[in-house]
Amino acid sequence: MKDLFERIIKDKGPLGKWAEQAEGYYVFPKLEGPISNRMSFNGKKVITWSINDYLGLANHPEVLEVDGEAASEHGMAYPMGARMMSGHTKYHEQLEHECAEFVGKEAAYLVNFGYQGMVSAIDALVSKNDVIVYDMDTHACIIDGVRLHAGKRFVYKHNDVESLEKNLQRAVKMATENNGGILVISEGVFGMRGEQGKLKEIAELKKKYNFRLLVDDAHGFGTLGEGGRGTGYEQGVQEDIDVYFATFAKSMAGIGAFFAGDKDIIQYLQYNMRSQMFAKSLPMPMVKGALKRLDMLRSMPELKEKLWENTNALQNGLREAGFDLGTTETCITPVYLKGDIPEAMAMVHDLRENHGVFCSIVVYPVIPKGLIILRLIPTASHTMDDVKETIEAFSAIRSKLESGVYKRIASALTAE
Ligand SMILES: Cc1ncc(COP(=O)(O)O)c(C=O)c1O
Repeated sequence: MKDLFERIIKDKGPLGKWAEQAEGYYVFPKLEGPISNRMSFNGKKVITWSINDYLGLANHPEVLEVDGEAASEHGMAYPMGARMMSGHTKYHEQLEHECAEFVGKEAAYLVNFGYQGMVSAIDALVSKNDVIVYDMDTHACIIDGVRLHAGKRFVYKHNDVESLEKNLQRAVKMATENNGGILVISEGVFGMRGEQGKLKEIAELKKKYNFRLLVDDAHGFGTLGEGGRGTGYEQGVQEDIDVYFATFAKSMAGIGAFFAGDKDIIQYLQYNMRSQMFAKSLPMPMVKGALKRLDMLRSMPELKEKLWENTNALQNGLREAGFDLGTTETCITPVYLKGDIPEAMAMVHDLRENHGVFCSIVVYPVIPKGLIILRLIPTASHTMDDVKETIEAFSAIRSKLESGVYKRIASALTAE
C-alpha cells in the first residue's frame, strides 16, 4: 500500500507539472493596482485584456461607494448562517426579485459562487431516472455537475445541432424506459472561443422532443441582448430557457450568481440545492453591491455600447491585420496562432515585457497540440489607444513567431 501523498507529490497534474517554470508569471500572475484597462504587472504598466470586467464597473466610483458603505454598515460577516436557517435578509430577496425581473423570469435564487451553484443545481434538478444531454465544450462547473448525476448522460458535439438531435433521440428512449425526463444544458456564450450557444436551434427542437433547457449565461449576461439581458434575449428565445443562470463575477464585477425560472422550479432549488442549504449566505456588501451594479446595468446602456465599440474596434483591427479570430460572435476575442508551448511562453513573455500587453494564453491540453490562443477580453474601460497599441504589438510578435525567433529563445533557455 502507498502513502496517499506519494502520488500527489510525484504527479502534480497536467497544469501543476509546469508550476516551477510558470508560477507567478504565466499562472498565478499578480496584476496590481486599481482594476482598469492598464494595471501593473511585474513592476510595469500593461494594457490588461484578461479581466471579465466587461462593463468597467469594478472600479466605478458609484460602485466603490456602495460597496464601502455596505461594508462599513454590515461588516463582511452579516448575515450569518445558511439562507434557510439564519442567513436570509430582505436585501437578498430584493436582489432575487430584481434579477428575475431583469431576465424576464418569475423568480430567481441567489448562489454564492457560480461554480458551486451550477454543480449543485444540476445535482438538484435531475434524479437517477432522468437523462442529461450537454454540449461537449461546456464549462467545468457543468461537467462537474453532470459527474454527480447517478443516471444516464449523453454529450453532443460542440454547438452541433445534428449531434444534439441524435443524442436527444437516445435520451428519449432511455428516459421513456426509466420514466424520467430530459435536461439539456448549453452555455449562452462559450468562454474560450466566444461562440454563442445555438439556443434558437435548441429551442426549436423543443417542438419535437420533450426536454427542459438549462443555460449558463455567465458571459452573455450584461454583454448581449436588449439592455444586456443576455443571450436568450439576443436570440429571441428567453422564454424557452427553463432555468437561466448568470454569475455576478463578470459583467457585474462582484461575487455571487443566480438561477432564474418559473416560481415552482426556483422554490424547488431553494429547498434542494445543497451548495446553498449547507453553506453561509452571500455577505451583505456583495448583495447591496450587486443591487447597485444591476441598477447601473439597467440605467446606463452606454456601458454596453462602449463595450461593443471597443470590441468591434479590436476585432475588426485584428482581422484587418490578418489575424484569425476563429468563430467568435461575442466580445471574447481569441487570436489563433501556431506554435508549441515553449515558443508560446517566450512570445507571451515578449508581449508582456517589451510591448506592455497582458492577455491570457491558452495551450495544450486545453486546446489541441501546436495551437496557441491569445485570449483578449475587451471592456468598456478600454480606449482606442489600447486597441491600436495592442494590434501593433500583435503584428510584431507574429512576425517574430513566424521567423522562428521565439523557437530559438525557447531552445536557448532549455539548453541553459
Ligand atoms: C461559463 C461559466 N460558468 C460558470 C462560471 C463560474 O462562475 P463563478 O466565478 O461565479 O464561480 C464561470 C466563471 O469562470 C464561467 O465562465
